Amino acid sequence: MQVHRYEKIWLAIGGAVLALFIVLLAVNAFAMGMHPPSDMQMIDPQKVDQTPPFDKPGLKQIGEKEYDAFMTAYAFSYAPAVIEVPVGSKVNFHVTSKDVVHGFEIPGTNINFMVEPGFVNSASQVFDQPGEYLILCNEYCGAGHHLMATKIIVK
Ligand code: CUA
Repeated sequence: MQVHRYEKIWLAIGGAVLALFIVLLAVNAFAMGMHPPSDMQMIDPQKVDQTPPFDKPGLKQIGEKEYDAFMTAYAFSYAPAVIEVPVGSKVNFHVTSKDVVHGFEIPGTNINFMVEPGFVNSASQVFDQPGEYLILCNEYCGAGHHLMATKIIVK
């Protein structure tokens, strides 16, 4: 079989790129320890109200300026209604849904994730500026979706 010279060159380039990708993937996975998120936390969506810490949604101070905020989302609100933290606090949000898929977005920050029934989703944010931060639902969840919001007060 006769293979054209240019075809050989392109085959070699294609093979080299493929080999490079596989090597990079291996380096990422084995040497740098990259992997898909595996700390998935699950919860029975029917029993959120009986499952600590979500049976008592609220703030828990875990460090000098660090808080865990355990929150539930449901049609069409969040619990607790309002959160208050001192300026400079780091807040670790842990949120789960009691019914359908909701959103959890704090405009002006990097916090923006889905809240799915059966799972606890988490994200952290440091609040360096005082003020009132809106927390809103950005996943359509029913007739009252546009009313679904709460706030975090930083002072
Ligand atoms: Cu909850 Cu939209």
